[in-house]
Parts: sequence; C-alpha cells; structure tokens
Amino acid sequence: MRFRDRGVLVTGGGSGIGQQVCFAAAEEGARVAVGDLDPANAEATAAEIRRRKGEAHAFRLEVTDPASVAQFVEGAETALGRIDVLVNSAGIREIVSVLDLSWEEWQRVIAVNLSGTFLPSQAFARRIVAAGKTGQIVNLASTLGLMAAPNRAAYTASKHGVVGLTKEMALELGDRGIRVNAVAPGVVRTPLTERYFQDPAYAQAIRDIHALGRWAEPREVANAILFLADEANGFITGTILTVDGGWTTGKRM
Ligand SMILES: NC(=O)c1ccc[n+]([C@@H]2O[C@H](COP(=O)([O-])OP(=O)(O)OC[C@H]3O[C@@H](n4cnc5c(N)ncnc54)[C@H](O)[C@@H]3O)[C@@H](O)[C@H]2O)c1
Repeated sequence: MRFRDRGVLVTGGGSGIGQQVCFAAAEEGARVAVGDLDPANAEATAAEIRRRKGEAHAFRLEVTDPASVAQFVEGAETALGRIDVLVNSAGIREIVSVLDLSWEEWQRVIAVNLSGTFLPSQAFARRIVAAGKTGQIVNLASTLGLMAAPNRAAYTASKHGVVGLTKEMALELGDRGIRVNAVAPGVVRTPLTERYFQDPAYAQAIRDIHALGRWAEPREVANAILFLADEANGFITGTILTVDGGWTTGKRM
C-alpha cells in the first residue's frame, strides 16, 4: 500500500495509460481524482474504483483551459482532502505528413500535449508550494520525445517539449519539495493506438521495433509511473524513464 490515503490526480484518466494509473494507484490505497475531456469515461473509471471499494472522484477536464485546470486541482483537493501526486496523461497525436499538417492540428496537438502538461503542473505545484508540502509530478513523454518517427511532427515536437518541461520544472522545484519526472513509453496498446493493431503487417512492424519483440500493455507503463511517484524513490527527479521494450536502445540489423 505505497500510496495509502495519498491524493493522486490523473489527467486523461478516462482511458488507456491514465486509466491504468488510476486503477493501480487505487489498489495501492490512493484516493484518486480522475480528470478527462470525456466526462463519461472519467466517471466510468471512478465508478470502477468505487466498485472495488476504493475512493475516486471524476472531473470533466480540458487541460488546455486554465479555468478548467484550476477547477480540477482545487476540486480534487477538496474532494480528496489532500493532493500529493499529479500524473499528466492527457494526450493526442496526428498521423499526417509534415507537408500536409494543418496549422489547426499543429496547434491542437501542441496545446493538449505540451500546454496541457504545463497548466496542470503549474496549478498543482503552486498549491503544494503554498502549503509547504511535498509533491510528485509524472509526465507522459514518449520515445518520440527522444527521437523522431515519420508523420508525427507536432506530436514529436510536443513530446520533446514535455521532456524539456520535465527537466526545467525538476530543476526549479526540487528544493521546494517537488519531484518532476517523465516516462517515455514505446508503443502501448490503448484506444489511441488500437487501429495500428488491426493491420497485421503494421502490428508485426510494431513488434519488430521493440527489442522485446512485442508492444506494451498500459499497466506496464502505469507501474513505471507509480515507481517514479513513490517516495521510496525520493531521490529521483528530472529523469526521463524509457519504458520502451528496448526501442531506443538501437536498431536491429
Ligand atoms: N499509447 C501509446 O503507444 C503511447 C506511447 C507513448 C506515449 N503515450 C502518451 O501517453 C498518454 C496517454 O495515452 P493513451 O495511449 O493512454 O491514450 P488514450 O487516448 O487511451 O487516453 C488519452 C486520454 O486523454 C484524454 N484527453 C485528450 N485530450 C484531452 C484534453 N484536452 N483534456 C483532458 N483530457 C484529454 C482523452 O479523452 C483520453 O481519455 C498520452 O500523453 C500519449 O501521448 C502513449
């Protein structure tokens, strides 16, 4: 029970990796605030935690809107009684050539993935610092925060931005009691990526890019996120933890 009675806030908690973070944290005793643009999915995650006798509250959240973010962080603190951990899992991505990428799609991907990591992190950190408490932030970067892949210019740029923001906030906030880390997952099977797996050739290509010869399940990434958030690992900050099955280790010849 590493997170007994801790207040854990998760953006994008209605689906995929964020949902598994909510479930895993609740299993470890956390009280969970589930934030998502899709309120029905946020409520479904929270309801499942309550069904398993945990504590969870759902919030409609638009991570690009400062007012919505403030409502989420303040509402979570009121509902949970305390806030300790923020996991920024809300994210989207495009699949289009850089030549065809529209200005609108570029702006939306950067807004959700990068500004949508900054805004909740700042709101959370301000409350932790004002209260003189400690806190942990874990961001969702990506292997595409460390390298590139075709047809994902905005996504790759946004995730490189998340890596930079993670280091910056870790540096500025370390002596204020806040650790800031990120995970950089390889391909994880979630609603975001589900259509990759419908094409057998593409599914095989995904296996082939990972040294482990498979893709990840969302719980495997959630477990790494909780490792970084765990105060037993309290000397880790500014780290980008690859959870990529060896994708970025090198190319197989
Ligand atoms: N799935 C992968 O292969 C993979 C790999 C590396 C990194 N990631 C990152 O992990 C994170 C989670 O991805 P996932 O695969 O679980 O995706 P997902 O689509 O299953 O879940 C993302 C959630 O974010 C929510 N969301 C989207 N825009 C939002 C907004 N503006 N405000 C609030 N919520 C919003 C969605 O409603 C959804 O519930 C993302 O940041 C993604 O970039 C995923």
